[in-house]
Amino acid sequence: MNQIRMINIENISAPPCDRSDFYEEHIINKIRKDIEENGNLDLSHAIIVREIGNNQYQIVNGNLRYILAKKIGIEKLPCIVKNISETDGIYEFLSENTQHELTPLVVGLAGLLIENGLGGRGNVSDRTRLCRCTGIDKGSLSKYISAATIYKHVENNLNCDEKRSLARKCSVLCKIKNFPNETWFSFAKYIANNTDAEKLTKSINLVKTVESIENNQVWRDCFFPFSKMVEMSLKDQTGEMTIKPTFRELNKTVEVLMESGRGDEINDLKQWLNENAFRVQGGRTFFNFRQIINHCRDILNVNNHTDKNFVNCDAIEFVKSLADESVTACISDPPFGINFHDIGISNTSPIVNDIPEQAMKLYENLAKNLYAKMKKNSYVVVFYSPKFIVPVVTAFVNAQFTLSDQMTWVKNGHGQGNLISSPLNKCEHFFIFKKGNPVWLTGAYNCFVYPVPSNRLHPMQKPIEMIESIVDAVSSPNDLIIDPFCGSGTILKACLNKNRLIAGAEIDENFYNTAYCNLFCDDESNVAVAI
Ligand SMILES: C[S@@+](CC[C@H](N)C(=O)[O-])C[C@H]1O[C@@H](n2cnc3c(N)ncnc32)[C@H](O)[C@@H]1O
Repeated sequence: MNQIRMINIENISAPPCDRSDFYEEHIINKIRKDIEENGNLDLSHAIIVREIGNNQYQIVNGNLRYILAKKIGIEKLPCIVKNISETDGIYEFLSENTQHELTPLVVGLAGLLIENGLGGRGNVSDRTRLCRCTGIDKGSLSKYISAATIYKHVENNLNCDEKRSLARKCSVLCKIKNFPNETWFSFAKYIANNTDAEKLTKSINLVKTVESIENNQVWRDCFFPFSKMVEMSLKDQTGEMTIKPTFRELNKTVEVLMESGRGDEINDLKQWLNENAFRVQGGRTFFNFRQIINHCRDILNVNNHTDKNFVNCDAIEFVKSLADESVTACISDPPFGINFHDIGISNTSPIVNDIPEQAMKLYENLAKNLYAKMKKNSYVVVFYSPKFIVPVVTAFVNAQFTLSDQMTWVKNGHGQGNLISSPLNKCEHFFIFKKGNPVWLTGAYNCFVYPVPSNRLHPMQKPIEMIESIVDAVSSPNDLIIDPFCGSGTILKACLNKNRLIAGAEIDENFYNTAYCNLFCDDESNVAVAI
């Protein structure tokens, strides 16, 4: 039987594969409480150590109790001294430890030590023994070991909190079982260099989405491997919103080519993708998803969807490019000039031109350039902030429009306000200006009650049903409606739903991409009849 000895705590050191930084505060507190209340440092809770020479001992089991005893100021610990090798010590540590101590990362570090430090690299029997004593399968073990490699690689440069957060993320990473290895390694590499958990989650979701797309493997093998996808999404250079519709469009194209006896064109498509799917510009890589979608539609000769009148450019330039007296209605939602910050979506960049002076200049230029483009009897519906009633009305009246009415959207939630000099905004407002004498076709009331859209594509997104009612009131099927400030494209989408012709612009490339997918790729029933 092993002897129990009281050993000076100064002569004891931690096990080689354990890190006190890993332990979550609540676990430490629980054990501390245990020790304080139940005296759990008695002989029945002796710590297992092995002698490493010179009256020095290394812990095999009981590291947490050792850490806490040190913190509490206990000088001597009851220990069972075992005469075992370092490798056996690690195996014993793994098989004897309680569940909370045996995190994936600890197992990974143990595996790493055995393979690299003690047993020799890639020793299959080591892995088999490790799996047996931890009850972990081989696939998981290899991921745990990789996570540990990453952790070890960066741990020296991190402070205690960062180490704990990195350890937590490595453990999360270890639990992602069903991802292909290349994806897993891309995440792992990212974790090693960057500690932004939000982007990591976004990217993991992207992979999950792509995994759920039929035939994704074909397109990954052909031109867009997972590692590149992950890398680009981690750098915010692409995401679900663009990859999903592109893969769907490619699948649809292949299906039609096969069904119509044009299967030999599939290789041409793959070749084209290899050459055209990406472009590098200013050191950034861009995914040419719009070109891919258009190319597919060209192949199938079904390109009635077109983005030629939905442009990624400045609203005023867009308005200037329109033919005189061609527009039946303009429904638009320019930046309000309120320095909007979205508390709902973190990390969003500010809305372009949302500074008061810039926004008011836009209203002024919009009104000035729009008048000639509007049909003789037509409406302009324009959202605004109550802070700027006077400059907005002035801009349109100076441009010869007449103020016809003002309408309100009553929301279920509220927006910005400071409760000191102004109440919280539970409504949004829009003016109805007119050129000539148009007729308001439907709708008896000047307010709408709709919840804020739940599919948050844009922080200032409007409810599509409300816009559809406005579309019905100011136009008829096949009329042209424009929105020079598209955001996520809600207004134009409502127009498409109501069989209107559309044209519009959005200056922010990310929102433009979002709107593009919202308008042209969202569901197959969309017959986008842009002019
Ligand atoms: C209030 S948001 C529109 C939100 C949209 N109604 C929706 O439902 O998603 C205004 C948009 O105008 C865009 N914008 C700002 N300045 C612009 C400009 N000069 N030309 C075109 N778009 C502009 C912003 O990027 C922003 O997405």
